[in-house]
Amino acid sequence: MSHLSERPEKPVVGVPVPHESAFQHVTGTALYTDDLVYRTKDVLHAYPVQVMRARGRITALRTEPALAVPGVVRVLTGADVPGVNDAGMKHDEPLFPDEVMFHGHAVAWVLGETLEAARLGAAAVEVELEELPALVTLEEAIAAGSYHGARPVMETGDVEAGFADSAHVFTGEFRFSGQEHFYLETHASLAQIDENGQVFIQSSTQHPSETQEIVAHVLGVPSHEVTVQCLRMGGGFGGKEMQPHGFAAVAALGAKLTGRPVRFRFNRTQDMTMSGKRHGFHATWRIGFDADGRIQALDATLTADGGWSLDLSEPVLARALCHIDNTYWIPNARVAGRIARTNTVSNTAFRGFGGPQGMLVIEDIMGRCAPRLGLDPMELRERNFYRPGQGQTTPYGQPVTQPERISTVWRQVKENAGIADRRREIAAFNAAHPHTKRALALTGIKFGISFNLTAFNQGGALVLIYKDGSVLINHGGTEMGQGLHTKMMQVAATTLGIPLHRVRLAPTRTDKVPNTSATAASSGADLNGGAIKNACEQLRERLLRVAATRLGANASDVRIVEGVARALGSDEELDWDDLVRTAYFQRVQLSAAGFYRTEGLHWDAKSFRGSPFKYFAYGAAATEVEVDGFTGAYRIRRVDIVHDVGDSLSPMIDIGQIEGGFVQGAGWLTLEDLRWDTGTGPHRGRLLTQAASTYKLPSFSEMPEEFNVTLLRNAGEEGAVYGSKAVGEPPLMLAFSVREALRQAAAAFGPDGTVVELASPATPEAVYWAVEAARRGEPGTDGPAAPGPDVHGGVRTGTEALSGA
Ligand code: MTE
Ligand code: MOS
Repeated sequence: MSHLSERPEKPVVGVPVPHESAFQHVTGTALYTDDLVYRTKDVLHAYPVQVMRARGRITALRTEPALAVPGVVRVLTGADVPGVNDAGMKHDEPLFPDEVMFHGHAVAWVLGETLEAARLGAAAVEVELEELPALVTLEEAIAAGSYHGARPVMETGDVEAGFADSAHVFTGEFRFSGQEHFYLETHASLAQIDENGQVFIQSSTQHPSETQEIVAHVLGVPSHEVTVQCLRMGGGFGGKEMQPHGFAAVAALGAKLTGRPVRFRFNRTQDMTMSGKRHGFHATWRIGFDADGRIQALDATLTADGGWSLDLSEPVLARALCHIDNTYWIPNARVAGRIARTNTVSNTAFRGFGGPQGMLVIEDIMGRCAPRLGLDPMELRERNFYRPGQGQTTPYGQPVTQPERISTVWRQVKENAGIADRRREIAAFNAAHPHTKRALALTGIKFGISFNLTAFNQGGALVLIYKDGSVLINHGGTEMGQGLHTKMMQVAATTLGIPLHRVRLAPTRTDKVPNTSATAASSGADLNGGAIKNACEQLRERLLRVAATRLGANASDVRIVEGVARALGSDEELDWDDLVRTAYFQRVQLSAAGFYRTEGLHWDAKSFRGSPFKYFAYGAAATEVEVDGFTGAYRIRRVDIVHDVGDSLSPMIDIGQIEGGFVQGAGWLTLEDLRWDTGTGPHRGRLLTQAASTYKLPSFSEMPEEFNVTLLRNAGEEGAVYGSKAVGEPPLMLAFSVREALRQAAAAFGPDGTVVELASPATPEAVYWAVEAARRGEPGTDGPAAPGPDVHGGVRTGTEALSGA
């Protein structure tokens, strides 16, 4: 096991194969959870009864009017729950609540013969409320001292001594928005019941084992009575890590009570108003630099907008704290975190899982402080990178492995993007164009791979070889478009030494592999790949012994390559099918369970110290934008990325992940603008951006005009599956370069050295205000940088120089 990164002869990993479902995706034949409904008889449709008030105690819930609606079969309420009326892992999420906690909270569900009957039934349910005061914004929660969950503090070095040694000290505040997942497939489940009352649930879930666990709790049955299957998801992005459980439990409860299959699938507005999003954050900070611009000390408080229940807010906050250093060495730091409790949907995992929020804070600080320090932002960033050979650790005490990769990817991006020449061209362009400005910004990333909670870093697999030589693999990970299944088939084919087409993959099911972790933290390929490799190694060992007898050689001298076994130094061949058949007749077991756990991790959540990550993924991006000074409208002219995926398991998949992650990050930072009604009217707390009509997503017209993605070469990672590194989340954060380029372009409208404080998202409107402020020579602190006073979502920022040049 010591040479995990060693690749055998002619490996199938590393080959740029298309996604295993690419053909089905583009021809529309790929099945998603809700497609199964049309293949199932007697299905009942579940529809939520949403209460359109931000908060209130339920004083009456009358279901009879719904039962009078033709086609309504049953109304599910808290009284129907045989087990625990809770949908969360923290037991703070009543499935059928007595108190409405956010605008759109579902308090009951109606089952109907048709979706329309269920919808009319839901509209007929009468709910009376004693309205209660609601905290809708993060600012309101902070003012009211409304928090929940842990309040970690990460500390390293001596912060006050660090400030005392600083030549420049700045303070600031930064409020930035969350993000809607907007997966193409909304939340969906289909629950069925068998003759013994066993429940089978097909769900669009990133975490089938936890869906199973919650369903079992709600039904009051042991886990072995509940099976969860996930065929594939039309995107999850973290939004289906914890959020599907309660919804699946409603379908399961309905099936249990009626004996009929029950399905639900949200329409877009239900999905957007009922399910959690990326956490918006508020940050206050004080940072000290020495005379050369090297960070001496950082003191910060990050407040995450948790929404009404905890959900995954604690681990999201922990990852935010663990990523505030990004690629920079911060010798003295104190970073406190807290989770605001607001009356909005419960915010949850979203690609990067808090990492992007922590990293955005430090990148924003860099962008704001560079002109104050009189340094080029690129130079300021470079000066602060972690350096090799200095024994530098992160603020939570983990040694930074491969710190040299930061400067390697950085240097390569500079070369690929032709930075020096293009900066000259941009300067000339800007000098000639008073109303249009261009800018080119570089940012880097370092992202820790593994779940912070050590126990989650395990994976399982079940590999079956049939008599005809065909192979079926099961593993605990789910497919959401990221190409995990493709990679897992490549790993199996590589380890067994057979062509890819001999391997098939079965849908993820909790009765094949138990107690799985969420497919999250980008660790799907590491954990499940490790488990599949382990299972295939067991099978290979057995088959090599069989082959050795047939070939008259030692098992250690036999290799299976492209489906043919040969002994070293001999021409005799034994093909795979023959080998498998022989093994069967010799009564050799042709199935194996595989297991993998990541070694060497430790994490103490209390002291907030440890080495929670197996390794770091690195990357750098250079983005050029052009901003129109009259409107704030902008376009992304060119993006160059160099990203470290180790030795790629599947290069086409990885490049797709990098492009997709980058664009999703750019959407978060520049376009996607979540707004809530923060007025005092009856719909206070209502999400105003409930559909694609009002929530702007990146589309073709926002793509970079030139987009160059390169994988870092010779990057093999010792100790990971065939030398590969995780890729799912890190590239999202390469989009910081877009935001920093917009900042620099806005600054170019002002005199040299203009400081720009940019809202996040940096919508064209926000960029327009930043340009106006730059023209006035102001940082935008007091200008109308934030959207109107009635609307929550935009940003107000401020920086104050306490001392320094
Ligand atoms: N890519 C696609 N196409 N769809 C998704 O939903 N989710 C992202 C990322 N890439 C996602 C995606 C998130 S949030 C994670 S954690 C990883 O994929 C999970 O898969 P992995 O661990 O197999 O990389
Ligand atoms: Mo991804 S946010 O870890 O599901």
